[in-house]
Amino acid sequence: MENAVHEAFALAEHAATVIQKTFPAHHEVLVVLGSGWAESVPALEALSTSPVHTLEIAEIPGFKKPTALGHGGALKSITVGSTPVLLLTGRTHLYEGRGVHAVVHGIRTAYNLGCRTVILTNGAGCLRTDWQVGTPVVIRDHINLTAHSPLTGDNAPPLAGRFVDLTDAYATSLRDLVRSIEPSINEAVYLGLHGPHFETPAEITMAATWGAEMVGMSTVLETIAARHLDMNVLALSLATNLASGLSGNKLSGEEVIQVGKDSSKRVGDLLSRVLVAFDQQQNGKRS
Ligand code: HPA
Repeated sequence: MENAVHEAFALAEHAATVIQKTFPAHHEVLVVLGSGWAESVPALEALSTSPVHTLEIAEIPGFKKPTALGHGGALKSITVGSTPVLLLTGRTHLYEGRGVHAVVHGIRTAYNLGCRTVILTNGAGCLRTDWQVGTPVVIRDHINLTAHSPLTGDNAPPLAGRFVDLTDAYATSLRDLVRSIEPSINEAVYLGLHGPHFETPAEITMAATWGAEMVGMSTVLETIAARHLDMNVLALSLATNLASGLSGNKLSGEEVIQVGKDSSKRVGDLLSRVLVAFDQQQNGKRS
């Protein structure tokens, strides 16, 4: 068990080596497309200033096609302006039972391919009845209630050690970048739970008391793994439904998928503009 972290890092290095056989050697940004966001792939591919490369993730060591509804199973390489970007079209959730290292394998692999910025996206339940279902929000902080950490076990390589500071887990500079292109976007505290069941109304009442505004089954462990590697994290949630007990309706996975589909143009457009703005900001730094 103690060596699980070391094995996970070795597997991520191996995965990166395999990917480099077909993809350009270096990337700067990883985008993980969650529920409601995977439909943005055509819009993001259309942005690319270089040929798009695609690998089925089942071909890459340590990855498995996600079983979650609405998740794709590909890794793509695109270029936005002069920024090389990896797109992971679906993610592994803790509730799929493959363990915490499988959940963050994409983050560690992308680190080995040069990425120092991660954009995590997800579909989530919304605790704020004054916000609109079908709109994206920026995550400003999280509460990790999965009862897991990707840093459990031996002190993990290669950088910060296990006592990772999460004070600024979601980079202020990236949140500011989003606000510069979408001034009215809301910012939220995201509560990450194990799932796969939805919450009870009582759990949502508790979460609201704690200050949570969005609730979902992903993102928090990936953020911790990314911060452990000193990667900058931006996380965007699409409000796919009002959280349990807030609307009078029952919750369903199908509803989450449908709202995601209905919002695909909006989220694809936002992600495209975020990537273009990021590229322009990097160009300013490069010149
Ligand atoms: N709860 C947890 N995860 C979710 C929800 C929700 O209401 N909606 C989409 N993912």
